[in-house]
Amino acid sequence: MGAQGPDATDASTASSPALGDSLSASRSSESTLELLNTRRSTLARLIRPPGPSRAELDGILRIGARVPDHRRLEPWRFLVILGAERERLHNRLSEIYTETQPTVSDEEREKGLEKIGSFARAPVTICVVSAAKNDSDQARKTPLWEQQLSAGAACQNLLIATSASGYAAQWVTEWYAYEPLVQRTLGLAEGEQIAGFVFIGTATQNPLERKRPESDQVVQYWTAGSSSN
Ligand SMILES: Cc1cc2nc3c(=O)[nH]c(=O)nc-3n(C[C@H](O)[C@H](O)[C@H](O)COP(=O)(O)O)c2cc1C
Repeated sequence: MGAQGPDATDASTASSPALGDSLSASRSSESTLELLNTRRSTLARLIRPPGPSRAELDGILRIGARVPDHRRLEPWRFLVILGAERERLHNRLSEIYTETQPTVSDEEREKGLEKIGSFARAPVTICVVSAAKNDSDQARKTPLWEQQLSAGAACQNLLIATSASGYAAQWVTEWYAYEPLVQRTLGLAEGEQIAGFVFIGTATQNPLERKRPESDQVVQYWTAGSSSN
């Protein structure tokens, strides 16, 4: 559905509860379990148009912001890169890459520039900005770590919502999430950080399952007396 279609507004607000609505504490959903059991990222370099319509994107962003957030600080914000801005950002990132990596070999440079190409190729990129707060008693009571975890949850919700909307995505940081010149180009404020870029579009090839941890590698059942204290 196109961004300007007559149903765009309805579609983007269709399933949003209103403040104070009574919601189910849990809801069985085989399709959600199936999606979470099989969802995979698609490498950013394989993501191309078409991307979500404006209404679909609105829905993805709304779900991205619907995450656990201790003391309701909203310690994240989303910068959406669309349309002609993709090429503008891509051009600026290519310049920054060249300015900041003057010593790399031609081969490395080509590879580096190819990776940056995702900003122009993917129809939608969402830069998730970790915007931890420290400007109120509530914010100061909330450790930075917790605020950053909430930004990570926002990234993951974006991936899940994107997949459930029928599009491919990858959460990427690369060098450009950490480069001050990129952060300045994107208008980050002092203290803000980039939790990731979520590239969104259509996969040119389906991903293969990758190795996942066996349960016993990452799950232990704690018993009293198992610690050294
Ligand atoms: C914070 C963060 C940053 C990441 N940055 C990159 C990156 O720069 N390049 C990359 O190839 N994968 C990166 N990944 C990994 C991919 O997003 C993804 O985890 C991997 O492709 C497999 O994901 P899947 O379990 O969704 O299939 C990053 C993951 C996280 C959590």
